[in-house]
Parts: sequence; structure tokens; C-alpha cells
Amino acid sequence: MEKDMINASRAHCLVFPYPAQGHINPMVEFSKRLKHKGVEVTLVTTHFISKNIQKEGNSIALETISDGYDEGGRAQAENDQTYLEHFERVGSKNLIELLEKLSRSGRPVNCIVYDPFLPWALDIAKDSELVAVAFLTQSIVVDIIYYHVSKGEMKLPLLEPEVLLPGLPPLEAQDMPSFIYKWGSHPDTFDMLLGQFSNIEKADWVLCNTVYELEQEAVDWMSKIIPMRTVGPTIPSMFLDKQLENDKDYGLSIFKPNVDACLKWLNDRSKGSVVYVSVGSMVILEVEQMQELAWGLRMSNNYFLWVVRASEEAKLPKNFVEETLEKGLVVQWCRQLEVLTHEAVGCFVTHCGWNSTLEALSFGVPMVAMPQWTDQSTNAKYITDFWKMGLKAPMDEKGLVRREGVAHCIREIMEGESGEEIKKNAFKWRKLAKEALDKGGSSDKNIEKFVANLVARSS
Ligand code: UDX
Repeated sequence: MEKDMINASRAHCLVFPYPAQGHINPMVEFSKRLKHKGVEVTLVTTHFISKNIQKEGNSIALETISDGYDEGGRAQAENDQTYLEHFERVGSKNLIELLEKLSRSGRPVNCIVYDPFLPWALDIAKDSELVAVAFLTQSIVVDIIYYHVSKGEMKLPLLEPEVLLPGLPPLEAQDMPSFIYKWGSHPDTFDMLLGQFSNIEKADWVLCNTVYELEQEAVDWMSKIIPMRTVGPTIPSMFLDKQLENDKDYGLSIFKPNVDACLKWLNDRSKGSVVYVSVGSMVILEVEQMQELAWGLRMSNNYFLWVVRASEEAKLPKNFVEETLEKGLVVQWCRQLEVLTHEAVGCFVTHCGWNSTLEALSFGVPMVAMPQWTDQSTNAKYITDFWKMGLKAPMDEKGLVRREGVAHCIREIMEGESGEEIKKNAFKWRKLAKEALDKGGSSDKNIEKFVANLVARSS
């Protein structure tokens, strides 16, 4: 171990996530795992993100570059396509300069772990003769779907109600990512997702934030086309991994978490009595949906801890917070992992973002699935039908989940038979996630192989 650490220290990875919370989180956690195995890591983010993040730990070195939008980040650009084009133009020059700066300072980089949302980072790695590593942040199931579309092997718009793709069970059109089942919606974001596969076959390694045993058939199929290795779940080690339980680095948060209020409130609640509610960092709910969710939470008559980002607060029903004080706490952001692992939490009403999904599976928290867009509908299908870790809240013809549906699903999980069944499965997934990261587990072995290869190439 000592010897490996010394050798590995010659390896220096630059880790370059797309600047959004759902991408920064898994790549920061992966960075921490690399560092634990002796690899030097520098995380790169944009000036804008850097100005706005809460650094809740400092175990990973941070460098910043300009994406050309230093004042507003992605929100300053007209759409994802404009943002990406500008980022590529400005950012690629800045990334090369950063590599040169690190080299001059005696810390040369020999590997770039890049987010395939920024495929040009691979070209920079190749041109600079560095190891190029793509890090996929979404499920492999979803990657298979995007891969087929990107290669023209899945014709759109869909003409059949059922979709048959290798590595996946038959799926209905409504289980496809939103860009497919709502054909024509967010074309710029869809292009960004498809762009992940534009040059990925040139990568030296493709790593994925998933657990092999969770998506076995999908990973096996995709690996025949693009050799890939699973390295997830990228959960902070203090929550899963005894080896690293003293690690107190919570990573980088774009939103300021209300840590003390959440913990104090949860500590006063009994085991399994609280519903935790969050739609992640990006989802924007319609006013009507927000209000139905609010009334549904109240109707369920359970305690709830609800994350409502500052930009969404005005959509809450008038006086809702004041009138629900006895039952609920509404905060603008929390440390989700602390909340999900708190024994008071018995259910998670979620938008089914991939990080939230993996986190809930890894901690065995039953879910009420309320997918909104992008990959969330596909994740929700797997949560409910294949992993059997939750119930999907029913949608009406307007695509809204009504209060009765919210309350019914919560009660079913908290008190009903479905809850009992899900709790049995929860144990299985929790064990599986932990074993994947334990020494000799599927993800740990893959990380070890990756590090050994890096060391061999950098010595
Ligand atoms: C986005 C997409 O929406 C999602 O579908 C895709 O899979 C990844 O990119 P986001 O919507 O933010 O991500 O959701 P999610 O993937 O769940 O990531 C949110 C992250 O923020 C999680 O790691 C979660 O733990 C964290 N979080 C969320 C907090 O720490 N505190 C909160 O209050 C809410």
C-alpha cells in the first residue's frame, strides 16, 4: 500500500466536470477516491462557479478557467448550444494554458478526466499526449439510449409505443428521456447529451458513475461497443466507506446548505417518520405543480423536510410555510447525504436525477418518483419496476401530479404494504452499493486498475 501510494503520487489527474451541481458532485467524489489511492488531483471549474460555490472541504486542489461567461455562467447564454460553443472557444485555450501553468510549477498533469458534455477536452488531452478519460455522469441505461440516437440507430420521432434496444428490457415511449417522449423539447440540451458520444471511442478509459450489479446487462452490452468501467456510487466516503470515515470533505456546493436547522429538526423526529422532498438543482416546477405538491405533503399528514430553492420559493401557496410549521420544514438547500442517512427519514419524494437516485439506492431510502425531464423518466421506470425501490406518482393528462397522488404514494410507502416490500429491497441495494466500493468490490477493483495503469504510464 505504502509503495503504491508513493508510485501513484507521480500521477496527476486534472478532473474537469461540466459546471453544474449534478456533474460536480460525482466528479469531486471520484477525485477524492483517486486521491485516497495516492493520485494527485486538481479539479477545474469555471470562474463563475468558483465565485459562487461553498467549499465545504479542501482535500482537492481547485483551479479555475473562464468559460467566457464569468458573470452569469450557463444562465448568461441563450441556450445550451450557444453556451457549449462559447465555452469550447474560450475554455479550450484556457485549459491548455492551465496545463502549461501546472507543468511550469512542477506539477505536470498526465491525465485528464473529462465530462463528455465537454467532448473537446478529449482532443486537448490527446493533442497534449495525456491519458484521456471520459467520466459518464448518468446511468448506462440512459447512455445506451443516447448512444443509439447519436449513431442514427434509433429513428425519431418514435413511431412505435414500445422501444426495443440491446441491453435494455422493452421500454415504453413514456419511459424514454424527455427529449424523446416529448419530441422537439429542449433540442439544444438533447444535442449536448448526444454530443457525449461524438468522440468517446478515442478515450483511453471510459468510467461511469454507476454500480455494475445495478445495471449489469446494460453495462455488459455497452462495454462491447465502448469498453467502460463502473466506479460508482460516487457517494462521499464518510457515508459508505469505513476506510475513509474520518473524511469530512463535503465537496463543492453551488447552493448554501442550511446544515444546522435541518439536523436539529430531524434530530427531534422519530425514526422513519419524515418525508424528504427535493427536485435537485435544476428542475423548475410549474406553479400549479408546486402547489399540488405542497397540498399533497400536507394531505399525507406526515412530517416533511422540503428543499425549495430560493428561485422557486414564490411558487409556494400563500402562508404555506407559516401554516405548516408543526409538520414541515422548508429550506433552500440541505446536505442531502446527511438528510438521506438520517434515521428520521423514511421516504424521499424525488425528481429522480441520477445522483439522487443512486444516493437513495445506496442508503436504502424508498422513493416516490416525480420525474420532470431529461433522464428522470427512465430512472423512475427502473426505480419502480426493476429495482423496486419506489412508487411512481401518477400524472394527469396535463402531465401534473395531483395532491391525492402525492399523498397516496407517501402513505403507501410510510404505512402500506408497498413500503414493507420496498424496505426489504432497500437492504439489498444498500449492501450492494457498499460492497462495490469496499476493497475488492466491482467499483473498487476498477478504480485500482485505472490507478495502476496511470501509474505505469506516468513512471
Ligand atoms: C441534473 C439532472 O437534472 C439529472 O437528471 C441528471 O441525472 C444529473 O444532472 P440535478 O437535477 O441537480 O442533476 O439532480 P441530481 O442528479 O439528483 O443531483 C443533485 C445533487 O445535489 C445530488 O448529489 C444531491 O445530493 C445534491 N443536493 C440536492 C444537495 O446536496 N442538497 C439539496 O438540497 C439537494
